[in-house]
Amino acid sequence: MSQETILNDDAFLVSETDAKGIIQFANDDFCKVAEYSVEELIGKPHNVVRHPDMPKAAFKDLWETVKRGEVWTGYVKNATRSGGYYWVYATVFPFESCNGSRGYLSCRRKASQEEIDKAQALYKTLK
Ligand SMILES: Cc1cc2nc3c(=O)[nH]c(=O)nc-3n(C[C@H](O)[C@H](O)[C@H](O)COP(=O)(O)O)c2cc1C
Repeated sequence: MSQETILNDDAFLVSETDAKGIIQFANDDFCKVAEYSVEELIGKPHNVVRHPDMPKAAFKDLWETVKRGEVWTGYVKNATRSGGYYWVYATVFPFESCNGSRGYLSCRRKASQEEIDKAQALYKTLK
């Protein structure tokens, strides 16, 4: 059984990617929970924290939504570096900065046990 990291109630995990999903920034909460330093994360594809229980369909939906310029929200089970996992409720925003570069920002909060149970049941039905 792998170890679940339960987020603090006020945890707020933020990461930013470029247009291709390469990490450009991660805040302290994200680094702490994922168990990486920010230097280790910057330049890596965001699937560095992917957990194998997550269905491909969820990320397909995420990418299709943000590429349309819309905001995606959903529950995500991520892997920690040491082989554990944690659940979040994520909101992913597409943005264009004033210098014209495009990217994506994900802001995550703790998911409740009830939310986790529902997401887990749904994800078991998806591929
Ligand atoms: C801003 C942003 C944040 C993301 N955060 C996560 C994340 O926390 N965990 C994750 O598994 N994938 C995240 N993704 C999706 C990954 O880019 C990737 O599509 C996913 O991990 C599936 O990996 P794969 O395409 O190699 O199957 C994020 C994407 C964006 C644009």
